[in-house]
Amino acid sequence: MEATHDVLVVGAGCAGMRAAIEAFDQGADVALLSKIHPVRSHSGAAEGGINAALGNASEDDPEKHAYDTVKGADYLGDQDAIQALCDEAPEDVYQLERWGAVFSRTEDGRIAQRPFGAAGEPRTAYAADITGHVLVHVLYEQVMKRDIPTYEEYFAWKLVIDDDRCQGVIAWDLLNGGLKTIGAKTVILATGGAGRLYVGTTNAYACTGDAMSMALRVGVPLKDMEMMQFHPTTLAPTGILITEGCRGEGAYLLNSDGDRFLERYAPNAMELASRDVISRAEQTEIDEGRGIDGNVLLDLRHLGAEKIHERLHGTRELSMTYAAVDPIHEPIPVRPGAHYHMGGVDTDLDGLTSITGLYAAGECACVSVHGANRLGGNALMETITFGRRAGRAAAEWALTHTTVSVPPSIEADSMRELGTLLDRRDGERPWAIRDELALTMHQNFGVFRREEQMTEQGRIVARLRERYERVVVDDKGDIFNNDLTQALELGFLLDLAECMIVAGLARKESRGAHARPHDYPDRNDDEFMRHTITTLDEGGRVTLDWKPVTVTKWQPQERNY
Ligand code: FUM
Repeated sequence: MEATHDVLVVGAGCAGMRAAIEAFDQGADVALLSKIHPVRSHSGAAEGGINAALGNASEDDPEKHAYDTVKGADYLGDQDAIQALCDEAPEDVYQLERWGAVFSRTEDGRIAQRPFGAAGEPRTAYAADITGHVLVHVLYEQVMKRDIPTYEEYFAWKLVIDDDRCQGVIAWDLLNGGLKTIGAKTVILATGGAGRLYVGTTNAYACTGDAMSMALRVGVPLKDMEMMQFHPTTLAPTGILITEGCRGEGAYLLNSDGDRFLERYAPNAMELASRDVISRAEQTEIDEGRGIDGNVLLDLRHLGAEKIHERLHGTRELSMTYAAVDPIHEPIPVRPGAHYHMGGVDTDLDGLTSITGLYAAGECACVSVHGANRLGGNALMETITFGRRAGRAAAEWALTHTTVSVPPSIEADSMRELGTLLDRRDGERPWAIRDELALTMHQNFGVFRREEQMTEQGRIVARLRERYERVVVDDKGDIFNNDLTQALELGFLLDLAECMIVAGLARKESRGAHARPHDYPDRNDDEFMRHTITTLDEGGRVTLDWKPVTVTKWQPQERNY
């Protein structure tokens, strides 16, 4: 065993770093482990802001925030978790401010807040349009200040489970090669989402759902895996995020006739309807021939150069660099793209999973505050609030328990498995399987879903799995063997795709991101206001179960945006 700690946090984006800081402040010996350097984490790509009812732009309170979140989630969110998020969010944001987060300001010096989709008040605190970048750097400063050790460029591959407890992680050391075991009394998973399941995504190449799959493989249930959010404004052709902050500042969405088509889909909220509603509207316009080369247009021109320079300079730069469009003068071509997994590792309000000592926070977890559709700005908030909660709970458990044991057989089995993969000389290259998976998920499990397409996707994934059994890693070396790690990531992605399809087929209704207009066009609260739960059985097959939604005070109602 390389080392042992009280708390090992896997993933060093906003959730992971916030968890590590909290665990450290509770007195635990904590370490971070990440396959990329912390400041390169995908949290840094979050642009538009972080939601907390600070009331700096209007009369606001956590209750309103909670109601908007419950409704935005299409009543699949757990209301106790949502209440915790919204109650604790303001203090968590002020803590970030005290640590030095350079939020944009109101004239009188308070944290500025902008409108975001499906929020009844302007509640999204922001740092221009680089909020995630700012928060990642602030958190990293706090990690460095505390001297929290970080296993940088370590690829976590397996969880160590012994004596019905999680006791560490087996990881591949990217820089030096070799499997390394890090023992820990508690492990917090915080590796983010799995947008790379899709060909068109805002997600970084690193977003391959590693923690969700690692948890699944040791018997932890995944919740609501069918709920993949499509963000309405991803830049054509790359899929880079164009922030909802543009619409918050007043941008329009136009079709090929120059119409603000949301008049027909969300006449009250227009461009500030919830993401699921807008993505469906865009896809319908595109499918019915009112798109432009598979896109619609995001028009910022009327905002004026000054506002664009001040609040949306990052968006302008991305548009100019990656689409050769200057939004001061021309509309930006955008389309829906896979953005955020509302589903993930099933946890309680402190991030605890079904296995003692194993916690999860951030996008890889499903506590669930986002239900069937996440509100923009709630993801960064979730990373901070539930990262902190998981860090505290994991530290408390670790500080009251003493031993860590990793039986040599677990390490030996992992070595053998990896050796078999690396020794294979003939077979198929991982990229071919990965490309086919991402393309077909986009075609068959996208904004709209049909029974026959999901069933076909199930067959495709089964065939891809068979091909994966013969996958060959050409690079046999030790140093930065990306060929190897991409092959392992592909295994993770295949697990998750299967869970998504099983859950998607079982949910015979339309709710939030799961839209089945052709066979089950309506939400069916009587039968399906409950979470899907997917687990692996003894034979490695995905099985489905259900779990009730926690309702505290908001009964389901129609969502009219
Ligand atoms: O559009 C955005 O800025 C994304 C924010 C989010 O997903 O929360």
